Amino acid sequence: MSRVVLGVAGGIAAYKAVELLRRLTESGHDVTVVPTRAALEFVGAPTWSALSGKPVRTDVWTDVHEVPHVRLGQEADLVVVAPATADLLARAAHGLADDLLTNVLLTARCPVVLAPAMHTEMWEHPATQANVATLRSRGVQVVEPAVGRLTGKDSGKGRLPDPEALYDVANRALSGRPQDLAGRRVVISAGGTREHLDPVRFLGNRSSGKQGYALARTAAARGAEVVLVSSAQLPDPAGVTVRRVTSALELHDAVLAEGKAADAVVMAAAVADYRPVERLATKRKKTDTLTVELVQNPDVLVELVAQRKPGQVLVGFAAETGDADGDVLTHGRAKLARKGCDLLVVNEVGEAGHPTGFEGDVNAATVLAADGSAHDVPLGSKDALADAVWDLVAARLPEG
Ligand code: CTP
Repeated sequence: MSRVVLGVAGGIAAYKAVELLRRLTESGHDVTVVPTRAALEFVGAPTWSALSGKPVRTDVWTDVHEVPHVRLGQEADLVVVAPATADLLARAAHGLADDLLTNVLLTARCPVVLAPAMHTEMWEHPATQANVATLRSRGVQVVEPAVGRLTGKDSGKGRLPDPEALYDVANRALSGRPQDLAGRRVVISAGGTREHLDPVRFLGNRSSGKQGYALARTAAARGAEVVLVSSAQLPDPAGVTVRRVTSALELHDAVLAEGKAADAVVMAAAVADYRPVERLATKRKKTDTLTVELVQNPDVLVELVAQRKPGQVLVGFAAETGDADGDVLTHGRAKLARKGCDLLVVNEVGEAGHPTGFEGDVNAATVLAADGSAHDVPLGSKDALADAVWDLVAARLPEG
């Protein structure tokens, strides 16, 4: 059981923190909720108190004999603030201590996660961005807001990620991840691309995107700024900028554009090698036989290697089966040389029932490096493989 302080600042997204509180307490954590006075305008103290099973205070003048303004922060294993408003970020960045929550932030020596939510203009304002940069430079994990519907009819960047995703971030922070990717920008591609034949049909593959999403989640948990170029049908991970694509050509354009300024790019997507020469504007009618002419798609990884900036680390994936010409690793080594990337994550895929790869939640791989080394990652969760990949990437990044 961990001791978690859930800070709640005064934003409409406070209602999502109720669900986060539920998830944290149901999974056995001891949660103390510290709302700001403004937060109670949105969700009242009885809600926080009933769900946490504890009294709720906002100021330092209640139960003074317990010295809560020092004790809560000192004893916490995690402080997570959701939503963190522009005002809360400013007060935290400047070390103000004018209510209980800001006192907790000053006394906490555990991981601190702030999940901002506000209107796009407020988030983008240089004052807010400077406060976020200051907080991050001190090791605070500031979750990137999601893009989507805001309070009214407007939409943009500034949404609080969903409680499920925030719960995931909180759990990762509790596991004491190193922030070794802080200040790094990483781009990850995920999912199988779809090549449309007509408005209804496409050529696709079995990739679920789960490994790419695991890479995105773990990189964000280690402090990276993450762009996920995705053709998968999975919910957005918290703190990750998601760019949705469908076809290999769309993925190509997004990854090459985002990759220009990246410290590392991981190509976990199963990019279709071919696309139909022609995409019909209307649904194709049935004929006795059908021949579809295909043309090769550009190789994104090879183009990334060609435009690589100094110090950038490039990672490819190779799902192999082994055949008469060689086993899985022989094909892997040849592919690493052909593509010219720094690391190639090689995993064996097989028929239905095979434990690794595609739709499952587990994976095992050998990561081949351009320096000739090979690193075996035993069968485990896709998150564990993702962390192993980031360990190897972090070791190759130039001093930041
Ligand atoms: N890849 C890419 N662009 C493509 C095809 C693949 O960037 N058009 C990337 C994949 O994302 C992966 C790596 O290249 O990281 C290897 O993909 P794979 O399909 O195994 O490679 P291919 O070059 O297509 O080789 P094969 O002949 O085995 O299909």
